Amino acid sequence: YRCCATAIPFCGFAAAVRTLRGLSRSKRGRWYVLFREETTMHKDLEKILLTREEIAARVRELGAQITADYEGRSILLVCILKGAVTFFSDLAREIKVPAEFDFMVCSSYGDATDSSGFVKIRKDLDCDAANKDVLIVEDIIDTGTTLSRLKPILEDRGAKSVKIATILNKPSRRKANVTVDYNGFEIPDAFVVGYGLDYAGRYRNIPYIGILKESVYKARIL
Ligand code: IMP
Ligand code: MG
Repeated sequence: YRCCATAIPFCGFAAAVRTLRGLSRSKRGRWYVLFREETTMHKDLEKILLTREEIAARVRELGAQITADYEGRSILLVCILKGAVTFFSDLAREIKVPAEFDFMVCSSYGDATDSSGFVKIRKDLDCDAANKDVLIVEDIIDTGTTLSRLKPILEDRGAKSVKIATILNKPSRRKANVTVDYNGFEIPDAFVVGYGLDYAGRYRNIPYIGILKESVYKARIL
């Protein structure tokens, strides 16, 4: 029995090494990425929806699109804290026109996974948005409540233009009408965390985006 217990894992390991040696370098790289993501996947996640590499590639595309659209102008980038902070810092570095940064805190969620439909500005801009081309940077547009209320507020302050960039969009959950100018990924109706997005203040530092296991939030609600 002891002999079998040692031999079986060893044969498995030897086969894995033989398979890896047989793969080309690029294929090996891809397998390594998959393997690494899976082995380090947070225990509270059901699956990884978007890897770091997929997110980075899309952010580069959005940055290039924004750079082209605002050519010859400067821009006021407004980060909606806290969820958008990771996307904001990545996107800002892909935008090649002069940019000013400012931050807002709005709340519509509390600790639940569903919108209360109520939006409160808890921290306003430090600068004056008048006569500026404003780009609101958001983590996810879900019901659309937050941005459908926020955009007109900035327009009323005399901004030259107000546009919206989001890394994630859940169109199937929309209740309020919002025009998304720069859309990272459309995702299905699932509660996601990582890349800045949280559940009850946690999981923001996961570097990829994953679906949270239902048992995590069911356990809290019940
Ligand atoms: P909306 O007002 O319903 O569009 O909600 C926008 C806000 O809800 C986002 O800024 C997030 O903070 C939060 N939110 C919506 N869906 C998710 C999700 O799947 N994971 C984490 N936060 C979410
Ligand atoms: Mg949040």
